[in-house]
Amino acid sequence: MYSEKVMDHFTNPRNVGEIENASGVGTVGNAKCGDIMRIYLDIDEDTKIIKDCKFKTFGCGAAVATSSMATELVTGKTIYEAMEVTNKAVMEALDGLPPVKVHCSLLAEEAIHAALWDYAQSHGIEIEGLKEPKDDIHEGEEEEEY
Ligand code: FES
Repeated sequence: MYSEKVMDHFTNPRNVGEIENASGVGTVGNAKCGDIMRIYLDIDEDTKIIKDCKFKTFGCGAAVATSSMATELVTGKTIYEAMEVTNKAVMEALDGLPPVKVHCSLLAEEAIHAALWDYAQSHGIEIEGLKEPKDDIHEGEEEEEY
């Protein structure tokens, strides 16, 4: 059901932890499953390159694997290039996710955006395409009956 890459990043996640005095921090949750992801960015003030990225995820295996891959993809990119790291890009880098797990990869994208937003706000920078982050990936959706 899961690709080898997903299993690898789940069992051996890269960049787990936190960055002290991070340049930007973003936290996003998914109220439906209760999972939470936090991303820390260390950004070079001059070049705007993401020098380091760490994550903490309280969540399912797919959420752990996507956060791990997302941290690898954004490291070394500028804050503007990091916008290319969409959930689709993360899924492709992991050789796909089962359809029911696609929403888990959204957490990674949203948490990176939230961390970029945090940095952009505190530095008066505008990043094209970056919108104010949601606290929860389902925020603004219609309530569903269970
Ligand atoms: Fe919640 Fe995967 S089931 S993020």
